Amino acid sequence: MTNVLKPAAKTGRDFLDLDRVDPSDLKAIMKLAHKLKASLLAFSPMEGKTLALIFEKPSTRTRVSFEVGFRQLGGHVTTLSGAEIQLGRGETIADTGRVLSRFTDMIMLRTFAHQKLDELAAGASVPVINGLTDFSHPCQVMADLMTAEERFGSLAGKTAVWIGDGGDNVLISWIHAAPIFDFTLTIICPPEFAPPTDVLIAAQKKGARVSVTADVNAVAGADIVLTDCWVSMHNSDAAARHERLSPYQVNVDLMRHAAENAIFMHCLPAHRGEEVTDEILDGPQSVVLDEAENRLHAQKAIMCWCMGVVIP
Ligand code: CP
Ligand code: NVA
Repeated sequence: MTNVLKPAAKTGRDFLDLDRVDPSDLKAIMKLAHKLKASLLAFSPMEGKTLALIFEKPSTRTRVSFEVGFRQLGGHVTTLSGAEIQLGRGETIADTGRVLSRFTDMIMLRTFAHQKLDELAAGASVPVINGLTDFSHPCQVMADLMTAEERFGSLAGKTAVWIGDGGDNVLISWIHAAPIFDFTLTIICPPEFAPPTDVLIAAQKKGARVSVTADVNAVAGADIVLTDCWVSMHNSDAAARHERLSPYQVNVDLMRHAAENAIFMHCLPAHRGEEVTDEILDGPQSVVLDEAENRLHAQKAIMCWCMGVVIP
């Protein structure tokens, strides 16, 4: 007899990071997302199923898009705040996953350390989805890529330029996506806020055209200009970040150097007047609300993939 709980076999597939999903599966998920948005499929594959959402950080878009999306697929949702469940009193995330797997069919987690997501995935016998960690935000980037595809048809051969915090979790998922969706990614950031070298090297080994510079002139000719807040939910050094990142604001002067039909992307929430000005955020090049809406469609497709739904 042992009191160690053995992991049960997974009932589906985890969606933890874009570099941990087979590229052909990611492309199939994207195709399904477009199809779901165009209402070419009205089906309820999640009937009788329950999705658990766990939030250890605040959320507007992730919470609502997962809740609405799973209900549109015919299922039920239970939304849990980390502080209100026993997780907040020290029950491990792996034990939380083991228990929730007895009641629910899939779990989405928004948390701090990425390791917690891996621990949940190891403990849970149902699929686990990354709803943002300090490290990455793959669901956001699936919605972003979908938005860019709507504008350009394909991302292949396009140039995306990220400006701001090079350690940002949304950016890490963009780096993971670069070799798969075949776009060039230029990252403009101060050297002390550069992306992790191992993430860059891993992407480059897969053929990604990714480079890092501190020179804002590298925005020249960009098809996509991307940014995010300077102070993420897990960052504590706000004053230093504001001081070092303020030269990297997306404003009219900067956008003038991008391609004529360039789009501006931001995962939201935006800090108006900090990383981006009102003119750009509310202007004709901004696709931020499409990105927000596409969270719904992209995540419906991701959830179908996780649950092994056979598309009619
Ligand atoms: N972009 C995003 O994940 O938004 P929320 O923090 O509101 O979920
Ligand atoms: N980088 C931001 C993304 C918010 C959706 C954060 O982690 O706070």
